[in-house]
Amino acid sequence: MFREHYAPLFDQIAGTDLFPWLNGLDKRIDSVFEEANNGHLPAWKGALEALPQVAPSVIDLKSDAIRIGGPTDLTGFEATRIRNELKAFHPWRKGPWDFFGVEIDAEWRSSFKWDRIRGAITPLAGRLALDIGSGNGYYCYRMAGEGAKLALGADPYLLYVMQSLTARKYLPDSCGAWVIPFGIESIPPAIPVFDTVFSMGVLYHRRSPLDHLLKLKQLLRPGGELVLETLVIDGDADDVLLPKGRYAKMRNTWFLPSCLALERWVKRCGFSDIRLADVSTTRIEEQRSTDWMTFDSLSSFLDPTDATKTIEGYPAPQRALLVATA
Ligand SMILES: C[S@@+](CC[C@H](N)C(=O)[O-])C[C@H]1O[C@@H](n2cnc3c(N)ncnc32)[C@H](O)[C@@H]1O
Repeated sequence: MFREHYAPLFDQIAGTDLFPWLNGLDKRIDSVFEEANNGHLPAWKGALEALPQVAPSVIDLKSDAIRIGGPTDLTGFEATRIRNELKAFHPWRKGPWDFFGVEIDAEWRSSFKWDRIRGAITPLAGRLALDIGSGNGYYCYRMAGEGAKLALGADPYLLYVMQSLTARKYLPDSCGAWVIPFGIESIPPAIPVFDTVFSMGVLYHRRSPLDHLLKLKQLLRPGGELVLETLVIDGDADDVLLPKGRYAKMRNTWFLPSCLALERWVKRCGFSDIRLADVSTTRIEEQRSTDWMTFDSLSSFLDPTDATKTIEGYPAPQRALLVATA
């Protein structure tokens, strides 16, 4: 029963305006896993259970590598065991993490993105935050490190949910960072209670980006903050790229607007105080293959003779960070 992993979350939700979600959330979490039909799930479950039960002497959710425990908390045998069990959750896309001195150098140095975000948003202390498409919850843990009351991630990809549970295994019940196994279309009813809603790296995967923005607005309380990060192109307010097929080898990429077009979308969806906080070209220092993500990464998604273009000839990935008020 996966609901057991989430028992402290249910208690945390009970103390917030999100309490209507409690009606059936436990059953829905169980049924996602039961109905998953995912052949890897037994191995992931086994690895989660086999991670040694150790009390971490230190927890640091503020450092670039999320730190859970120190090397001296483990025997040599346990250290080997932890490394082997964590490897069962390959590929680690988001990180870095440091489990008792075992460093997970993930494909993305997600701390780079977090550094761009942290100073650009309303401080998270005491806030109820939702991260749609959270991956393994790296950012949720960093949000908890900033004092968010609850930092709830939602992601339908069970490997990432399982990765987040490896961290939860060692964290105190009071830690408010979680990843629930739902895509945006199946999260519990959209009640407008969140103080901050994050959608990062998701909008260009949506066939209907405006509906995505409207759904995010339904989840925010009036005056709440949207933190939107997505791929953009250069151009004016009428410029939007719809790739012919793949973009940077990604199959399901739909609309890449210019920053001005993105601002217009956000405005048309009823947001105000729209601020473009950052535009960055993704660099190989930020996204690359590692021992913990051995598949192809950014360097093979770009034109080998011209790094300003993707392998398909489109502008290379550039990401905008936009902050707006609901
Ligand atoms: C490009 S990753 C971005 C991850 C993270 N937000 C970041 O910015 O680093 C997109 C994430 O969206 C998740 N995803 C896919 N379909 C989704 C859906 N329908 N609803 C929410 N998330 C989804 C994927 O599993 C993946 O973790």
